[in-house]
Amino acid sequence: MTDTSHTRLLIIDFGSQVTQLIARRLREANTYCEIHPYNKVDAGFLRRFNPGAVILSGGPASVIDEGSPRPPKEVFSLGVPVLGICYGQQVMMQMLGGKVESGHGTAEFGRAYVTPKGNLPLLDGWFEDGDEQVWMSHGDHVSAIAPGFEVFGTSPNAPYAIIADTSRHFYAVQFHPEVHHTPNGARLYQNFIKLAGFTGDWTMGAYREEAIQKIRAQVGTAKVICGLSGGVDSSVAAVLIHEAIGDQLTCVFVDNGLLRQNEAEEVVEMFRDHYNMPLIHADERALFLGELDGVSDPETKRKIIGKLFIDVFQKHAAGVGGAEFLAQGTLYPDVIESVSFSGGPSVTIKSHHNVGGLPEKMGLKLVEPLRELFKDEVRALGRELGLPASFIGRHPFPGPGLAIRCPGEITREKLEVLRKADAVYIDQIRKHGLYDEIWQAFVAILPVRTVGVMGDGRTYDFACALRAVTSVDGMTADYYPFTHEFLGETATRIINEIDGINRVTYDITSKPPGTIEWE
Ligand code: XMP
Repeated sequence: MTDTSHTRLLIIDFGSQVTQLIARRLREANTYCEIHPYNKVDAGFLRRFNPGAVILSGGPASVIDEGSPRPPKEVFSLGVPVLGICYGQQVMMQMLGGKVESGHGTAEFGRAYVTPKGNLPLLDGWFEDGDEQVWMSHGDHVSAIAPGFEVFGTSPNAPYAIIADTSRHFYAVQFHPEVHHTPNGARLYQNFIKLAGFTGDWTMGAYREEAIQKIRAQVGTAKVICGLSGGVDSSVAAVLIHEAIGDQLTCVFVDNGLLRQNEAEEVVEMFRDHYNMPLIHADERALFLGELDGVSDPETKRKIIGKLFIDVFQKHAAGVGGAEFLAQGTLYPDVIESVSFSGGPSVTIKSHHNVGGLPEKMGLKLVEPLRELFKDEVRALGRELGLPASFIGRHPFPGPGLAIRCPGEITREKLEVLRKADAVYIDQIRKHGLYDEIWQAFVAILPVRTVGVMGDGRTYDFACALRAVTSVDGMTADYYPFTHEFLGETATRIINEIDGINRVTYDITSKPPGTIEWE
């Protein structure tokens, strides 16, 4: 649990796919909240957390089933507003004396329209143009409401779509106000936090000041090391920590030979020259490329790179002398403990590269100043700290770098061709004003040579694939619908400007079934 001076809202998670969106809606309204799984929230936890309001999320279970998840009953005697969403509504009714029944024609999935019944401050700004569209996703339904509750909205299949006990400030809705398909849903959350007395004091300016104080208090006069990749998270973490403790921070930037064109120079220039940070530029290109020589299996590549990164980081960090802390750009979605109902471990699709294991190995404590933030909040903090917009808006770049954009064996020749092609492609995207619309774009060099004809001569060069996707979080993605003109112009530029490529393809696979990277 994080210590903060803000009034905090507690979201008790029952395993809905969209619980994180509740937190997003609240954060957008400058309200500090945390998500905790139901099985970690007991009376003692509630006392320590001391929430200003509680939201009970949706979830896949049925309250009718024995042993189905419940919040501690003390939630209802804290004297703070409580909002139940979908499963949260049902659990609230079940525990407060109402009734929940299963299925038989009353399940609702998808769009529905709610008709108002009476006035409720929770619904300020609703129903101005008639019935409100909402998103339903429930099998069970409430069949009798608990004593003290009244109905404030109905839908054809949910007579208790919106209910409330206004004297105790308990509110419950059958639909999901947090999703996009409930267009006025954000307003409902804003009304709820207003009712609960939150003042919207969660701003990036305030966060920056508090984070700096916290870092100083945690670190004291000790030294901190930070692996800087040039990505948004580690960059923002480094700048923030540097602002807090100055030269007690040393960054280690590892050039593994798998970076994009000019990347190493840009990162070093920005952090060493512009921000005056002590920065170790570890040129380990020969080591990484040597170890990867002849390796073509994607998982083996990932493992080699992950291990070498740790070795190299450790070697250079040892030179800093007496560092007690390791800084990491861990974000809130990495911290939220997910509720698993299936129990089984999920399949490893790719072993992601990170610096996991380092702190224990090196006996270091962690400084993670971004642990409470979502990605877009990290960007906002970056702007607050004065990082250039071009840097903050950069597409994500994977830890194993170009190695996983070079299926098959990695050679220096292929990497060089790939770097150049990627630079032309990104230049095209920027020139057409598409960079910010696309979540991630890159070139992959394919492990085949194909025959072409240029001028009067035969060519036998590499083929490459262009990739560009839209996504919210990288978990799912769709290919970007470039125009044929754009694709044609880009292919022509790549083939004309770069020796070594004579064929360009566009990857139109979504994720799933594909993944974003090629390996
Ligand atoms: P995939 O290819 O799994 O990628 O669809 C999803 C997102 O994650 C990035 N990615 C990585 N990022 N270390 C990282 O830091 C990794 O090992 C790694 N592998 C993939 C990928 O670029 C995309 O943004």
